[in-house]
Amino acid sequence: MLFPDARGRRLRANPNFRRMVRETKLSRDDLILPLFAIEGKSVKKPIDSMPGHFQMSCDHIVETAKKAKEAGLPAIILFGIPDKKDGLATRAYASDSIVQKAIQEVKEKVPDITVITDVCLCGYMDHGHCGVVDKGIIDNDASLDLLARTALSHVKAGADMVAPSDMMDGRVGEIRQTLDEENFSHIPIMSYAVKYSSAFYGPFRQAAESAPQFGDRKTYQMDPANGLEAIREATMDIEEGADIIMVKPALSYLDIIYRLKQEIDLPIAAYNVSGEYSIMKAGEMMGWVDAKELIMETLISIKRAGADLILTYSAIDVARELNS
Ligand code: PBG
Repeated sequence: MLFPDARGRRLRANPNFRRMVRETKLSRDDLILPLFAIEGKSVKKPIDSMPGHFQMSCDHIVETAKKAKEAGLPAIILFGIPDKKDGLATRAYASDSIVQKAIQEVKEKVPDITVITDVCLCGYMDHGHCGVVDKGIIDNDASLDLLARTALSHVKAGADMVAPSDMMDGRVGEIRQTLDEENFSHIPIMSYAVKYSSAFYGPFRQAAESAPQFGDRKTYQMDPANGLEAIREATMDIEEGADIIMVKPALSYLDIIYRLKQEIDLPIAAYNVSGEYSIMKAGEMMGWVDAKELIMETLISIKRAGADLILTYSAIDVARELNS
């Protein structure tokens, strides 16, 4: 049918029509809130590059987890800023370290929010890389044991799910095997399987104090020019035991989310990363854009591309806007 018989505007004419034929819906169920935990008491230090976000001591993490729960969110993901960094990321897997304490406190005080943890070494290494460094090279295989120990320590502290973000080859299999051996076969792994080497992580590295002290992450994170490689990475992680596959960042990679949705049958998560958030907030501060509208539009686009879950710094604000 063609114009004038067909008229696309008929079903756009009022809010109820639009509501009835809307193809994609964003729900609170889809959103995961990232939080940054730091040692101390009553600490709530603003992250300059991420307005509305803070490095928080455990008491404030618990308060924010409560707010997230009240806003209807199912889950948070925790990142830690440790008291000390070294060449073996010792504080990543110490039972008394920051993320382990934050997990325990949240699980004790807000038991029904799901606690996911980011499993990586970069924030805990003095050189800021995601694995062990040997003569200036990031040693893949030497990093696996430390990553598995980190995941295990999070789960022992009470984490409901672990999310390895380091991009070492084989780490999902290593973590799965370690968790299974320690009677945690029921704990799911959300793999940052398709993680690109991206300038959109800039503000996060300030937030987590995890910028590499030499070189860059291009020898382990993916080249933004590659799409087929995303399928290979996802397929390998699925074979190693991943339960959820993540694409990161989200907005410049909507085609990758779409492709993976056609190719794989696991839930797909997308990380609406720090730079994507900060750019919108900066635009708002300049008075040039309406960040609230932009955030809703971008989250819907990420869902429309095929993401089942979205990690976003806007999760609480958006959950409050949504009515289900
Ligand atoms: C740790 C990690 C990073 C992010 C999540 N986990 C940073 C990086 O790889 O440099 C980025 C999150 C964001 O930008 O919001 N490896």
